[in-house]
Amino acid sequence: MSQTIHPVYLVGAGPGDPDLLTVKALRLIQDADVVVYDRLVSEAILDLIPAGTTRIFVGKASRNHHMPQEQINETLATIADSGRKVVRLKGGDPFVFGRGSEEAMHLTQRGIPFQIVPGITAASGCTAYAGIPLTHRGMAKSVRFVTGHAQSGEALDLNWDSLADPDTTLVIYMGLTNVAMIRDELTAAGLSPATPACAIQNGTLADQRTVITTLGDLPDCVEGLNLKAPTLIVVGEVVGLAGELGWLNPAQPCELEAQA
Ligand SMILES: C[S@@+](CC[C@H](N)C(=O)[O-])C[C@H]1O[C@@H](n2cnc3c(N)ncnc32)[C@H](O)[C@@H]1O
Repeated sequence: MSQTIHPVYLVGAGPGDPDLLTVKALRLIQDADVVVYDRLVSEAILDLIPAGTTRIFVGKASRNHHMPQEQINETLATIADSGRKVVRLKGGDPFVFGRGSEEAMHLTQRGIPFQIVPGITAASGCTAYAGIPLTHRGMAKSVRFVTGHAQSGEALDLNWDSLADPDTTLVIYMGLTNVAMIRDELTAAGLSPATPACAIQNGTLADQRTVITTLGDLPDCVEGLNLKAPTLIVVGEVVGLAGELGWLNPAQPCELEAQA
């Protein structure tokens, strides 16, 4: 008798708060034989995995890949081939800077069925918890999600002229390392250095930290306050609403001298 192959579920875990998991994500996690997970999946979410379920950590940090992507792809395929139910749990949404599509392509090539379960991406989750609407009448007509990650030593390959739009909210994933380059390129393309900007560290978690500043001062703030990954950068007029609408932890202005 031939082996039953279950679909591999590529599941978004959201930005950290376990209450942001979808009902489908929770059901699949609780029904899986094996959960293959990333560094960005929070402890509180890992606590929801039943004790008897096999866990495989393939934790990816931006510059320190624990397991090469090809090996992750092959791990998923091999476990699925063995007839076990696999959940591939990824921070945020699997299809937003999550390489979920690469994993899905590999499974397709291997003839293994899969399903994608969307998660709340960091741009939505972190800003909601920081009281920053991505769009707001009269302030932001559109929103752009961009990656601030470049290959080591290389410049960021982004269309700065199109990004330097005062009517757009810019959300930058993985932007900490290149924050000075991002500031310089955006201001050179015409965006005012006085544009409100913020960095949200550990968004949606109890220790969420939201630092409010301007685009011009953002690199000094990131460095001076020693912000660490995961941190999301938001640039745009809507950041100015965080003081009024922030509700999880109060947003803090970037007061470098006070910290010194
Ligand atoms: C490799 S990307 C993965 C994005 C993920 N697929 C998503 O949809 O949110 C990792 C980056 O997302 C951002 N990020 C994810 N979770 C975050 C959180 N809880 N707080 C702040 N930033 C977060 C950070 O910029 C981090 O460097």
